[in-house]
Amino acid sequence: MDRALLNNRTPDQLRASIPARILAPTMAGILTAYDVSPKGAVSEVPAYLQDIYYWAYLNPRNVELLDRESVVKILLWGRHKHLRQKAFDEIAPGQSVLQPAHVYGEFSPTLARHLGPSGQLDVIDVAPVQVANCRRKLAPYPQASVHRADASQPGTGIYDAVCCYFLLHEIPDDYKHLVVDALLDRVVPGGKVIFVDYHKPHWAHPLKLITSLVFDTLEPFAKSLWRSEIMEFAKNADQFNWRKETYFGGLFQKVIAQRQEE
Ligand SMILES: C[S@@+](CC[C@H](N)C(=O)[O-])C[C@H]1O[C@@H](n2cnc3c(N)ncnc32)[C@H](O)[C@@H]1O
Repeated sequence: MDRALLNNRTPDQLRASIPARILAPTMAGILTAYDVSPKGAVSEVPAYLQDIYYWAYLNPRNVELLDRESVVKILLWGRHKHLRQKAFDEIAPGQSVLQPAHVYGEFSPTLARHLGPSGQLDVIDVAPVQVANCRRKLAPYPQASVHRADASQPGTGIYDAVCCYFLLHEIPDDYKHLVVDALLDRVVPGGKVIFVDYHKPHWAHPLKLITSLVFDTLEPFAKSLWRSEIMEFAKNADQFNWRKETYFGGLFQKVIAQRQEE
């Protein structure tokens, strides 16, 4: 499956296609230039994670460097707090929430505090090193727990909300379908699945070119969010009410899928 998902390019071809020098000024470029080839296979993670994102999410040394609020702030052009707040605006204190992938920095502890002691936060991530980091951050919050799982098979829990923050642009399209369907399955009637992610910016957006370059070199699955609505990845889209807001000249989006009441 992985070969097909990677447009018939082998992992070696994909790595060789990364013109890291173009991205030298960015954190991603610096780390990619420094560490373009995976040094150790991590068992039971999806092929795309091992092949494309080893340097960012699996290499323990880089994870230690990158797992900080300032990094997410830089990657999201200073809009991280604003976007995080837009996601949290959809979630009420006391609710149960599934977060289907770890986010670097303070995202999960902030969400745990937002939910409060009567809420429940379940975070999953497919990478063991990410699970360990997130567990450490959430240790002070008894309302939160972290498990290793793939977002396409998030378990059997049913939640008031699912908060999917910048995961979809990193996964191949076949996987996007699986993940979107699996997350939609996890909410109660009236419950919301919240996707915050990239979106096609306005044609005159000053950051469109650099974003396009970064996507073409480092994020091969991101541009499908420029071409398709998130709703289009859902098999049972008609069972939900969909709402979309875009931010920062269209570079980012929040999509809410709210399960219709029975
Ligand atoms: C949420 S995304 C990116 C978030 C944000 N850009 C950041 O800088 O943290 C990153 C996480 O997704 C995880 N991940 C990738 N594919 C996954 C999958 N299929 N299931 C669960 N977690 C996944 C990675 O292990 C990584 O921890």
